Amino acid sequence: MLELVQRHFFEGRFLKTLCSGGYREDQIRHFALQYGYYSRHFPRVLGAAIAAMPPIDAWWVPIADNLWDEAGRGEPGRAHEKLYLTFLRTVAPDAKLDEHGIPDVPMSKAVETAIETFIQFFRQATPLKAMAAVGLGSELFAGLVMARIGEGFRHPHYQRRGAVNTLFWEVHADEHEPRHYQLCKQILETFTSPRDLADMYETGRYIALSEARMYEELHDEMMSL
Ligand SMILES: [Fe+2]
Ligand SMILES: [Fe+2]
Repeated sequence: MLELVQRHFFEGRFLKTLCSGGYREDQIRHFALQYGYYSRHFPRVLGAAIAAMPPIDAWWVPIADNLWDEAGRGEPGRAHEKLYLTFLRTVAPDAKLDEHGIPDVPMSKAVETAIETFIQFFRQATPLKAMAAVGLGSELFAGLVMARIGEGFRHPHYQRRGAVNTLFWEVHADEHEPRHYQLCKQILETFTSPRDLADMYETGRYIALSEARMYEELHDEMMSL
C-alpha cells in the first residue's frame, strides 16, 4: 500500500507541483475551495461506512469515534469544518462563503466523483471490506499525505500575500490520522486468511486510487484556469 501511495500521491502531479511552489494564487484558491468540499463530505463517508458494519459495537464504535473527531469531539471551533476555514481564509481571503462556510462556487467533478465512489462502495461492501476501505483506503496514509500538503503550502512562493495557516493539515497529520488508522487496524488484524488479506488489499487499493485520481483531476482543473 505504501508503495502505491508513493507512486500515486507523492509522485503525482498535484503534490509535485504544490511542493515545488508551481501553482498560481488562483489555482491554489481553486484547490482550497474544492478540498473544502471533500473535507465537509467526509463525515458522510464515515456514516456510510457505519451503515455497512454489523450491529456489533467492536465494529461501529471505532468509526463513530473517528466521526466524532470530525465534529471536534464537541469542542466549539474544533469541528474540522470550522478548522478548515482557518486555512481557507488565508489562501482565499476574498472567497464568498455562506453562514456555514460553503463557497459560492459549486463542488467540482473531481471531488464529487471521489466522494460518490467512496459512498457507493459501502452499499455492497461486506463489513471487512468497509473497514478496509476506511483503514487501508484512507486512514493508513491520510496523515502522510496531509503532512505533505501542509508542507507544500508553506513553500515561500505561497506566503507572498501573508502566511498560509496550515494548522488544519498539521492536526490531521500529527494527531488524528494515525489514531484513526489504529482504530480500524484493531479489527483488520484479526483477519488473517489469504482470502481476507486479498480482499483488504484490493479494497484499500481501489479506494486509495480513487482519491489519488481526485488530486490528479484537481490538478487538471487548476491548470485549465
Ligand atoms: Fe478531518
Ligand atoms: Fe481520519
